[in-house]
Amino acid sequence: MKRPQSALFDRLAAGSQLYVYPPDSLRKLNGLVKDKGRTLDVGCGDGTIPQAFDAPWVTGFDVSHRCAVLSRGRGIASVVADAGGGFPYAAGAFDTVYCVDVLHHLERRWQPVFDEVSRVLRPGGTLVIVEPDARNTFVRWTQAPGSPIRVAPFDNEPAIDPRELLPLLEARGYDVSCRPIHIEGEQVERSVFPLWQRLAKAPFTLALAFLYRNVPNKFAIIATKAGDTLGEVPAASMEAAT
Ligand SMILES: C[S@@+](CC[C@H](N)C(=O)[O-])C[C@H]1O[C@@H](n2cnc3c(N)ncnc32)[C@H](O)[C@@H]1O
Repeated sequence: MKRPQSALFDRLAAGSQLYVYPPDSLRKLNGLVKDKGRTLDVGCGDGTIPQAFDAPWVTGFDVSHRCAVLSRGRGIASVVADAGGGFPYAAGAFDTVYCVDVLHHLERRWQPVFDEVSRVLRPGGTLVIVEPDARNTFVRWTQAPGSPIRVAPFDNEPAIDPRELLPLLEARGYDVSCRPIHIEGEQVERSVFPLWQRLAKAPFTLALAFLYRNVPNKFAIIATKAGDTLGEVPAASMEAAT
């Protein structure tokens, strides 16, 4: 089934960039995992985030063809694939999997994604999830389906409360931690809503943004997959050693 998000993100990424991130936000995302090893970025967008990863080998996929093209242009080996289907990689192929701002697009169909992450992540590997945090009122109302001040481009991408995700990962044997994180990112394509709507919403969104300026806008889950890693050497290190 072709997802509506693929057409939407093809359009949002029609130029050369999907989002603009300040260097500090990219540094924070990169810093979530120190020794990343072989790294996969699920829903890699235009490749800006994986390009900032300090890792020996980074690959990505996205449901949007245009995003995969832009990501390849930034030096990330990227393919078109649906996170809700089978990931096009071998079992245990990755030491680290990032998934930034993708789960809220999946209409809560998260189990197949976690099935596939668990398959491609080696035992002891790390999954990073970063999402808009529904506990922040500004974020919740600007993402909520049907909200008069929705700024999210697709009308079914509510922000997530991390307390919904943590038990799903714990049930799979992950050791999980969750921390607040503030990430700035500007969508480049502004024409999703007509100008009059953007002007009408502006006073409310600006006021809410001001009120909630000190509440982190996202959460970061760091989940370590169970497994005996004693004596295990990531393939990337083995390559470096030979
Ligand atoms: C909000 S953007 C985030 C992009 C990038 N991760 C970032 O943070 O800059 C959401 C991304 O998820 C992708 N996406 C949405 N649904 C997807 C799916 N079912 N499978 C793979 N990618 C998907 C979109 O095409 C888009 O690139």
